[in-house]
Amino acid sequence: MTSYASPNHYAVMGNPIGHSKSPLIHAEFARQTAQNLTYQALLIDTAPGEFAKAVKQFREHGGSGLNITVPFKQDAWQLATHRTPRAQRAGAVNTLWFDIEEKIYGDTTDGVGLVRDVLQNHGGQIRERRVLILGAGGAVRGVIEPLLEQQPNSCVIANRTVAKAQELVQLFSPLGTLRAATYAALHGQQFDLVINGTSASLQGELPPLPDNLLAKNAWCYDMMYAKQTTPFLTWGLQQGAQQAIDGLGMLVEQAAESFFIWRGVRPNTAPVIQLLRAPSCLMTTNSTLTVTNLSQL
Ligand code: ATR
Repeated sequence: MTSYASPNHYAVMGNPIGHSKSPLIHAEFARQTAQNLTYQALLIDTAPGEFAKAVKQFREHGGSGLNITVPFKQDAWQLATHRTPRAQRAGAVNTLWFDIEEKIYGDTTDGVGLVRDVLQNHGGQIRERRVLILGAGGAVRGVIEPLLEQQPNSCVIANRTVAKAQELVQLFSPLGTLRAATYAALHGQQFDLVINGTSASLQGELPPLPDNLLAKNAWCYDMMYAKQTTPFLTWGLQQGAQQAIDGLGMLVEQAAESFFIWRGVRPNTAPVIQLLRAPSCLMTTNSTLTVTNLSQL
């Protein structure tokens, strides 16, 4: 029987969740920083109301904080009674934490994770760079504000459905120079940093990108990661990208930011990224629980 009595219990909720590396990442953070905590992956039913019910039960059983992944980030935003400004604007929450009152706090740490990975782990630069973001879905919403904070020279959001990109431009343009584009409109333009935030890699697909999109020494960054090089990063290398980076570092960095919010301690991410890159680690965790009623645990 799992005990939630201590105020040191955390989990990630999503559906699917079996692939999640978060339990392994947080276990490593806890070991490294000598924090006494548990962290599990919880598979939550997608039927209406089930997510809110699961969060309530988790909390009632003494849970302290949660990571939230697909498809519940918007539900988590709704549920949060207090949101950080960046989460408020993004419309999505990936980190929840509670206090003794009824308050539920929400933040989104994905964008911070992306920026830290580019700047600190890879020694890159966003400031003064011409940035192109591919996609305008939930994943992209969470990263625009931290990217604009770096003061790029310009930032273009390209999407198949251009209306969604325009919507994001309207929402975020008070924070920096931002434009929307169709993929066709990218012909003749060049960028220093191209970030793939579409889910195309999941289907082994590539957005319809023109040749000569990459400026000299340009970097390509895929917010997804996989055992094999993603189609987008393969394209980037073929097009002469100086660096082609997958989203594993971003995953670890967003987790570190959540860990810091919950525990007030910042873990060292480099050894955890290294651990996850090891072939023996490229498997799914076996600590997933299917949850219908936490009180039955
Ligand atoms: P997520 O939460 O992963 O962002 P999402 O909100 O469904 O998922 O958004 C998926 C994004 O990937 C969208 O920008 C989508 O483009 P549309 O808005 O035009 O649908 C984009 N996308 C998915 N498959 C794609 C493909 N094969 N080529 C280009 N863009 C694709």
